[in-house]
Amino acid sequence: MKIAIIGFGTVGQGVAELLVAKRAEIERKIGDFRVVAIADLTGSIWGDFKLEDAIEYRRKKGRLPSDRSAKEIAEEEDYDVMIEVTTTRLDESGIEYMKTALKKGASVITSNKSIAVDFQGLMRLAENNNAKLMYEATVGGVMPIIRLLNSYLALCEIIGVRGILNGTCNYILTRMEEEKLPYSQILSEAKEMGIAEANPSADVEGIDAGIKLVILANTIGIPAKFEDIEIVGITKITPQAFTVAMQKGYTIRLIAEASKKSLRVSPRLVPLNSPLAIKGTMNAAMIKTDTAGDIFVAGRGAGKFETATAILSDLYELVRTN
Ligand code: HSE
Repeated sequence: MKIAIIGFGTVGQGVAELLVAKRAEIERKIGDFRVVAIADLTGSIWGDFKLEDAIEYRRKKGRLPSDRSAKEIAEEEDYDVMIEVTTTRLDESGIEYMKTALKKGASVITSNKSIAVDFQGLMRLAENNNAKLMYEATVGGVMPIIRLLNSYLALCEIIGVRGILNGTCNYILTRMEEEKLPYSQILSEAKEMGIAEANPSADVEGIDAGIKLVILANTIGIPAKFEDIEIVGITKITPQAFTVAMQKGYTIRLIAEASKKSLRVSPRLVPLNSPLAIKGTMNAAMIKTDTAGDIFVAGRGAGKFETATAILSDLYELVRTN
């Protein structure tokens, strides 16, 4: 299998490092593979190269060796699978590389939340070209929710999903709950931890959770667009609000909710003993089904190797189901 990696920042390098470190084990499970091209905004590398050398070069020189662009690589190289791990952009430019790959009949595995821009269109494009678009890593990092919905629960009716889809907000709210510190003070620490978006207002204003909710809603058959989501962030929550809530046995969490009746991201009271009162950067979700009651799932919502693990899980699934 020939793999092209588009995007060679934290997640792209995480994927490459796991492919190097676990090559024997991965090849036992998915067969032989070769990374035939890597590209990002700094440059590219393709043809006959060693993956470990590319990682080393990128780390030492802060760029990839060739000036050939990611667009050219995506269009001109021959690959079976594109691992698209570029940054989320909320316009058509964010899904350009994926479209190029799908039009060529190559499958795409992505962590790029830009798929929310045209989820249905991308899925149709994949189907029409006999390719697949796999996106486990876009929602909740390594929390295995997409496969759970698309495969394990495929024959259930999903009545709704409620969840914590932003690790940065959950971290801030947890610290507020425990230490009664104002949100602005904790945000700077969250930024240092490297889980916040490049523009962290996307986290604290609920936009990132909203984008993920669009992806989840579409996954359960609600053809939502970003504009359909009602969004309130966490910027107005005070430490005092926690004091009041906790006296009554509640905490506050940023809850994203998708059902036929509601598409909403907002701070909500959550009973302190609820599994959704989860702490720190964890993501979690409660899935309400017709025949199996409620199913709870949780996992680390971000991180280099966590997200890379979700990408590799999709790679395995792609091969397994082909
Ligand atoms: N900024 C996101 C978060 C990263 O805090 O959850 C993962 O999408």
